[in-house]
Amino acid sequence: MLIQRLRIAQLRNIEQAELNLRRINLLCGPNGSGKTSVLEAVYVLGSGRSFRSARLDPVIRYDADSCTVFASVTPGGPDPVPVAIGVSRERDGSFSGRIQGQAVRNSAELALRLPLQLINSSTFDLIEGGPKVRRQFLDWGVFHVEHEFHRFWMDVHRCLRQRNALLRRDRIRAVELAAWDNRLTAGAQRLHELRERYFERFRPVFQQTLRELLQVDDLELGYSRGWDTSRELGEVLQEQLERDRERGFTHSGPHRADIRVRLRGKNAAEVLSRGQQKLVVAAMKLAQGRVFMAESGRGCVFLIDDLPAELDRKHRQQLCGLLDAMQCQILLSCVDAEELRDCWDGVARQQIQLFHVEHGVIRPIEEGNGGTHG
Ligand SMILES: Nc1ncnc2c1ncn2[C@@H]1O[C@H](COP(=O)(O)OP(=O)(O)O)[C@@H](O)[C@H]1O
Ligand SMILES: [Mg+2]
Repeated sequence: MLIQRLRIAQLRNIEQAELNLRRINLLCGPNGSGKTSVLEAVYVLGSGRSFRSARLDPVIRYDADSCTVFASVTPGGPDPVPVAIGVSRERDGSFSGRIQGQAVRNSAELALRLPLQLINSSTFDLIEGGPKVRRQFLDWGVFHVEHEFHRFWMDVHRCLRQRNALLRRDRIRAVELAAWDNRLTAGAQRLHELRERYFERFRPVFQQTLRELLQVDDLELGYSRGWDTSRELGEVLQEQLERDRERGFTHSGPHRADIRVRLRGKNAAEVLSRGQQKLVVAAMKLAQGRVFMAESGRGCVFLIDDLPAELDRKHRQQLCGLLDAMQCQILLSCVDAEELRDCWDGVARQQIQLFHVEHGVIRPIEEGNGGTHG
């Protein structure tokens, strides 16, 4: 999959930009110039969300009423015809997305067209952070590989919202609760099966990828489904009803699923150095891209923010080498192009595009045309 042309308007400090992308794209420039904003624009296009703020409002340029991002994307695999994808977000809160001129109904449609993997400083918290980020990580893979997943996920979350609302009432009608519990139990089981099936495919790929990046023996990933493994969810829900009512929410279920990262029986966050953790996370991200490619025959686009700030030179080179071998498209930001100089030694020049970013203006830099500093 390849984003060929990318147009950004009124997003953060970028007033207007039009980029012709290649397979490997390096965005270089001083702090605050707008590099992360370019990655953010692509992310908004592929998910309808930002990775920097919970809401999209702060993404719109201060004086503007709306921001838009547009791209023409070659899907890859058997389909060589470019697809036009565009999104725009108005100040009044409305969001609209179009694929080939047709309005999209939800952000899942965008995600299916534009599968993205983001690596930034928060991704490196995957191990130290709470279960939610790991669950989202897992669900990215399941979503892209198992086509039923989205429907079950939506239904399970609807059941959970309804059940939690019931729990907070003074009186609960038993039949009403039972109806939601039954539906939740069935959906949860299906969700769990899809997650588990994906995870079993993911785990060996991850182990292999990890060995290519880091020497740690005995690092184990485990999937936990969010409720007692020996019982149906329905039984657990009944048993925990009093506690659920006291707290006003459902304690057990697929919304509590997690990936455990352990080393010799201990939580990896307590054992691995920060640097090692980053490599484990990088391996998880790469492995996910590899599984996606193996299952779908398409590559995802990697957005990598300020890699030199995260990894040392040797590991940058290794990571970039592995990314290059996947033949995925990459958008990478760094302050100084020099810091990524020896990362792409084996790559043909015409596959790499360097951009200089300053005050929200993005200029392509041609080889021999002033080098890395424009
Ligand atoms: N809504 C906005 N409108 C205009 N400028 C913004 C907005 N939000 C952030 N900025 C500015 O845009 C710039 C964005 O920089 P960023 O993309 O984070 O830069 P870099 O990644 O190159 O350090 C910052 O200077 C920030 O102050
Ligand atoms: Mg930045």
